[in-house]
Amino acid sequence: MKRLAGREAALRVEPGMRLGLGTGTTVAHFLDHLAARIRRRELPGVVGVATSARTEMAARGLGIPLATLAEAGSLDLTVDGADEVAPGLDLIKGLGGALLREKIVAQASRRMVVIADDTKVVPRLGARAPLPVEVTPFAHASHLEWLGELGSEPRLRIGADERPYRTANGNYIVDCRFEGGIPDLPALERGLAGRAGVVESGLFLGMAECAIVAGADGVWILSRA
Ligand code: A5P
Repeated sequence: MKRLAGREAALRVEPGMRLGLGTGTTVAHFLDHLAARIRRRELPGVVGVATSARTEMAARGLGIPLATLAEAGSLDLTVDGADEVAPGLDLIKGLGGALLREKIVAQASRRMVVIADDTKVVPRLGARAPLPVEVTPFAHASHLEWLGELGSEPRLRIGADERPYRTANGNYIVDCRFEGGIPDLPALERGLAGRAGVVESGLFLGMAECAIVAGADGVWILSRA
């Protein structure tokens, strides 16, 4: 299903587009299909900006031309996965740890298209996935306590080496579980934005233009209400 969504997104790429390339297993399928179209010479002039080292490596291996965001300037389209997609196309992202760079690239983009399988579609954000919050390592315990006071069950993400997981920016991630979902998304976003030491959260509100969702019955498009 992820493959179907990735293929559909690759069909929306046009020659000359400057693309934001998201991160994750669904995006990996998008990259495969994009590279196939580039090899067939259907997409001259397309260039991508990667949101993670993983995506950069995959894109390089597939022969997708890459640029930095500074080189590309503003982007035409970002294609990225999501951990949850709610009505109105509000998203939770960041279970893969790349949320900050994903958000920087998405905000530099005129359009953002999300690709997902239908297990990601939820009635309310936070219903299933925790919300990843990237914080500075300095005094991180104080953020844990504060995030708990906001009504979540915060947990510092631990890496495979059993030490706190470090993002590509050298920060920690706190995964915040909200029992029954996040009650007030804009209020939470404002609270997080006003907190020193919180670098970014995986809340992507009002950023996606549409979601390409693949399920057993095929592919369908969710648009912002
Ligand atoms: C990476 O940090 C995430 O935001 C991913 O985009 C998200 O976790 C979706 O990943 P999958 O496509 O692997 O489910």
